[in-house]
Amino acid sequence: MFNYIKLLNNATLFMIMRFVTFFFSGTGNTWWVVKEFTDIASKNGYNAEMFSIENDQIKNPSILSELLEKSDAIGFAYPIYGANIPPIMREFITEVKRISDNLNKLDQKYCYIITTIGYVNGYGPFKIKNTLRSIGLKLKAHINIRLTNNISTPGLKINPVSSKKLEKRKKKGTKKLNKFFGKNIKEKKYIRGIGPWLIPGMLIRRRTAPKMKVSYQRFSINLDTCNNCNICINNCPSNSIIEVDNKIIFKKGCTACFRCYNFCPTHSILYNGKFADPGVYHRYLGPIDNLNLKNLKY
Ligand SMILES: Cc1cc2nc3c(=O)[nH]c(=O)nc-3n(C[C@H](O)[C@H](O)[C@H](O)COP(=O)(O)O)c2cc1C
Repeated sequence: MFNYIKLLNNATLFMIMRFVTFFFSGTGNTWWVVKEFTDIASKNGYNAEMFSIENDQIKNPSILSELLEKSDAIGFAYPIYGANIPPIMREFITEVKRISDNLNKLDQKYCYIITTIGYVNGYGPFKIKNTLRSIGLKLKAHINIRLTNNISTPGLKINPVSSKKLEKRKKKGTKKLNKFFGKNIKEKKYIRGIGPWLIPGMLIRRRTAPKMKVSYQRFSINLDTCNNCNICINNCPSNSIIEVDNKIIFKKGCTACFRCYNFCPTHSILYNGKFADPGVYHRYLGPIDNLNLKNLKY
């Protein structure tokens, strides 16, 4: 009997948390951060998986339900856009809401949020906490990793930081993620990202939210320089770029990730009808050399 109890205790000790992180990443920063987090978990002997919300499997409700049910810790990771959550991530959370009624004990799971930013996260944990509550999840941990801004356009020239600075920030990010993971496995409450910047965030959000809905109107294509490689069409996360009668059209649903603008090899995506000279407005091609765009979709 004594041995049996001892065995049970040991089994409880070795019952390790199973992590799943659903991420969206327009240009690779969030993907890199989630990969780092998942690697930290795996190196520590934990079962951790990461899925892009662009992954077709995740769009299947029964697969998504199964993943949510079998995981002890559920995470969402996304970049901050205009002090807000990207529309595509909001839609994904709505999708989870649709299936969450049939899921068991979601409120008992450890729920975490990882965000990435260029400057400041004016969105913070409060608003996302309410959104998560609506699907039965309780926010336990929130972390914000600063890498670099990823858009520089005519009218808003904010070039990405140098690769040296980015490497420094990546190192700092890894340190933060290690600490974050340490709190996660102890199932501690660990909410970061609360500060005075949430107040301007509120104002920024009010201004940018209506603009985000029509972001597709800002983009067009210079067919004189376009080489028909279709990188933009094939990699648009919301399938908002389509070809009609030899013309490329940007349609409603665009999540404003700037993947098309940054990764166009001939810099043919126009912003507000203007050509953005890449020598002046630097394109951000992700946090690692030769980033494979396919990684952002799986
Ligand atoms: C439309 C848009 C709006 C953005 N707004 C903000 C912002 O409000 N605050 C901020 O710090 N960074 C902002 N950024 C920068 C991104 O949040 C940052 O570069 C992020 O790490 C990109 O992640 P990704 O590479 O995974 O897409 C914005 C980027 C885009 C494309």
